[in-house]
Amino acid sequence: MFKRPLSDYNEFQKVLNQAQNIVALTGAGVSAESGIPVFRGPGGLWRTHRATDLATPQAFKANPALVWEFYHYRREVAFNSQPNKAHIALAKYEKICQEQGRKFSVITQNVDGLHKRAGSKNVLELHGCLQQVICTKCKIIEMNVNNPICEALRGRGFGIIDPSKKDQDLPIIQVKELPKCSKCQALVRPYIVWFGENLDPDVLDNARELVETCDLCLVIGTSSVVYPAAMFAPTVAERGKPVAEFNLSEDPFDEEFSFHFSGPCGTTLPKALGIDL
Ligand code: OAD
Repeated sequence: MFKRPLSDYNEFQKVLNQAQNIVALTGAGVSAESGIPVFRGPGGLWRTHRATDLATPQAFKANPALVWEFYHYRREVAFNSQPNKAHIALAKYEKICQEQGRKFSVITQNVDGLHKRAGSKNVLELHGCLQQVICTKCKIIEMNVNNPICEALRGRGFGIIDPSKKDQDLPIIQVKELPKCSKCQALVRPYIVWFGENLDPDVLDNARELVETCDLCLVIGTSSVVYPAAMFAPTVAERGKPVAEFNLSEDPFDEEFSFHFSGPCGTTLPKALGIDL
């Protein structure tokens, strides 16, 4: 018999107020209301693009300019976006918890940096971030928020996403024009975990520890299909701890979740956390 999670805000707040170690696991849906496209579903990036063409080490080796055009586009969108009410509610709730001696952490699959820009402090970025680059040779990781990151990428990449903006007449970008390491001058790549790559082991260890110890998990705007993040919330539920899901979808991802709040999380999350915005 299917056990339907509750969608009662008062009941959720009773659980929320008792929790001492809260983890919010977020995905692309938390940034959708900031105008950043999600990956799957209507308007999703992976509907028009095979992830393997753009987000794998093999793709970067075969065509670093194309991959950089795609990431230049994503940097441009992210850098020009603002945190929305869901990001802000999470940051404000973290501050409340800190004042009360309770722990509140965000584990995000997003690379847009919007949680930190909203003011969240305890943030684990599982899949890297668009603000950093890593050298293909000396492996140094550097912060780089220059936009464009190099002159050759100015205005590029939009045709990959929107065929009406085809940039097919533009000259092919040479590898020597792409972003370089400030230390050894070799080619750098976005500091993003691509398909087929492992997560940073320290970040993964920290995330696992939170998943193993939290007493409430909020799972917000993720389709929960990419591992290991996909198993985090079900793992919390298996430990018998409450999980509250916030998603546009009407249906809960897992019948073991305690709460499911359907709708845009820019509305549902501030209401659930009791944050007036
Ligand atoms: P997806 O695009 O797979 O899923 C987005 C989820 O957010 C869906 O379940 C939507 O229903 C939900 N959603 C959309 N708008 C929402 C809103 N306003 N409020 C609440 N929910 C909303 O994104 P992720 O689950 O984050 O990895 O995808 C996981 C990973 O797959 C990404 O980190 C990326 C991608 O391939 C890498 O690139 C390594």
